[in-house]
Amino acid sequence: MTHQPVLLNEVLEYLDPKPGGQFIDATLDGGGHATAIAERIAPGGRLIGIEWDTELLKQFEAKNKSSKFKDIIIPVNDSYVNIVEIAAKHDMKPEGILFDFGLSSWHYEQSGRGFSFNKDEPLDMRFNPFAGIPAVKMINLYEIAELEQILRDYGDEQFSRQIAGAISEARRKQPIMTTARLVEVIGSAVPEWYKRRKIHFATKTFQALRVVVNNELANVKKGIEKALEILKPGGKMIAISFQGHEDKIVREVFKEHVKKGDIILPAHRTIRPSWDEQKQNRRSRSAKMKVAQKI
Ligand SMILES: C[S@@+](CC[C@H](N)C(=O)[O-])C[C@H]1O[C@@H](n2cnc3c(N)ncnc32)[C@H](O)[C@@H]1O
Repeated sequence: MTHQPVLLNEVLEYLDPKPGGQFIDATLDGGGHATAIAERIAPGGRLIGIEWDTELLKQFEAKNKSSKFKDIIIPVNDSYVNIVEIAAKHDMKPEGILFDFGLSSWHYEQSGRGFSFNKDEPLDMRFNPFAGIPAVKMINLYEIAELEQILRDYGDEQFSRQIAGAISEARRKQPIMTTARLVEVIGSAVPEWYKRRKIHFATKTFQALRVVVNNELANVKKGIEKALEILKPGGKMIAISFQGHEDKIVREVFKEHVKKGDIILPAHRTIRPSWDEQKQNRRSRSAKMKVAQKI
């Protein structure tokens, strides 16, 4: 199943792309949002699509070659933290920038990199297998106190101490190499009632590991700050977050810039998907969208 773009109508309403427009989609994935923007900036517009995942970018490029938007969308395999250099290289002063944080449905369903606790795969969890260290190293080599802190701070996991303890015990016998083994170890550490809840008992551990493996929170902060630097006066930036820590960073960075007087918040509030969208796309349920406009 391809990734369904979240809050698409709302993104288009605020970015308001017109023929000839210049935009950056900082998290391209399969190009759900990017293609909808491309449709509106044709003819004559340009959109840089940044995607950190080499595999996803390759898939997009293959599709883009035979697409009617091939002269409009410029796919770039890089991290959005380098957005200033990427825009300069392509001589672009964007009038709109979109960040749609987190991961693609493809990561869970097809990457084979251990993002899902419902599959048995090697524990990698990197968006870009050429950057950073895989989850397997973190789980087997990090100090237990550090792992506990990661689960608590990045996953808000209430059983972080117990889970870190179980990891310590298990890895002493044999390294934890796969998602299935990690789920088993987590299951041995948490109480029965925790396993009967709607949210899977491994959700928070998996989220915390993924966020740290990919340096996600530091990237979000750097990415939106750098994007504000290159946005054209009057241009808009949209950030869609899927977890509280990300949303908090966006809120704080925007607040700081409102104080400085270089942006305004045209939406005034956080935008959430409609009930219809939430019903139709489960992933959209946790989405929170914020909009900034450069002065
Ligand atoms: C939620 S998906 C974007 C979906 C896309 N907007 C769509 O609707 O088709 C987020 C994407 O951002 C990518 N990503 C994560 N961190 C990144 C980074 N630092 N730089 C660029 N892309 C990143 C992920 O690999 C993933 O494909």
